[in-house]
Amino acid sequence: MIELKDISKIYQSKNGEITAVKNVNLSINKGEIFGIIGYSGAGKSTMIRLLNGLEKPTNGTVIVNGKQISSISGNELRNARQKISMIFQHFNLLWSRTVADNIAFPLEIAGITKNERSKRVKELIDLVGLSGRENAYPSQLSGGQKQRVGIARALANNPEVLLCDEATSALDPETTDSILELLLDINKRLGLTIVLITHEMHVIRKICNRVAVMEAGQVVEQGDVLQVFQNPQADITKNFVMQVSGTKESKESIEQILANYPTGKIVKLTFIGNKTEQPIISRLIKDFGVEVNIVHGNISQTTSGPYGTLIVQIDGDDVKVNQALHLLDQQEVQTEVIDHA
Ligand SMILES: Nc1ncnc2c1ncn2[C@@H]1O[C@H](COP(=O)(O)OP(=O)(O)O)[C@@H](O)[C@H]1O
Ligand SMILES: [Mg+2]
Repeated sequence: MIELKDISKIYQSKNGEITAVKNVNLSINKGEIFGIIGYSGAGKSTMIRLLNGLEKPTNGTVIVNGKQISSISGNELRNARQKISMIFQHFNLLWSRTVADNIAFPLEIAGITKNERSKRVKELIDLVGLSGRENAYPSQLSGGQKQRVGIARALANNPEVLLCDEATSALDPETTDSILELLLDINKRLGLTIVLITHEMHVIRKICNRVAVMEAGQVVEQGDVLQVFQNPQADITKNFVMQVSGTKESKESIEQILANYPTGKIVKLTFIGNKTEQPIISRLIKDFGVEVNIVHGNISQTTSGPYGTLIVQIDGDDVKVNQALHLLDQQEVQTEVIDHA
């Protein structure tokens, strides 16, 4: 659906050249929600602008839906861009227009008749859950409602790709979740391909199927979200994973745990996919007669199943404790003995 081949983007500035994107290769499948995560300045917004043809790459090719976006211009580019919509961090609504008229705007530009416009606007208002707010002005809406207008407007012309540039970064956590759920719902219902850029791993975890991690213009890591969570390679990815997994036990908290649980083995277990912790822990207790105390835990959901970590104390006969650890390994639960080895 989307192919980036060896993309680089160099900006000329007063202080010389800035390489915003460097040798990026990505391919994004039709109907998936693909996340690009990176800190500020990593080159994410530049990537998005390359995807919709707002910027031309210095090197490489961008293909969206069979069209070589990086080399077309004029009418051809304008037509292609009708199928590549976008939503923004600060919504970019027209403040002097009502909700309905904001949503109708791209339809007006596309030359849709008034009758058809109002029919389509009504559908879109229902789709994003804004019934009753048609005649409100953006200033009268909450942040979440404003982004719903942004989403409805972006969907007006039935795009094939929706680009989201930090679309939830201005929202509080609960509103963020409701907007992410709306995006997931739209993705499922319409089969829309979504490319989402963010600096928050929570956003990736909640709705993305795959993720690319960007640092200094380069994609340093990419893969299935669950795999990246389970086994992050680059340091920057590990930092992002820590944002949500709760695996960032500080040295102090580890010392505290070891002091509070002075016997047995203190083990960190990482669960992914459908291996939920409960049956496995029950089995340890039943099969090996060891004592298992959950010291610290954190489980969260991704689109492909649960992901989480637990720190447990496994106490009992040495041989039995080792057998229990062996079973955990066989169950594809990642185990890391923290201390009292
Ligand atoms: N139009 C531009 N001209 C010059 N430099 C730019 C321009 N746009 C972005 N940059 C630079 O490119 C780098 C990446 O920026 P950007 O793509 O906005 O990153 P992000 O969205 O990840 O914060 C930054 O160093 C930024 O200052
Ligand atoms: Mg940006």
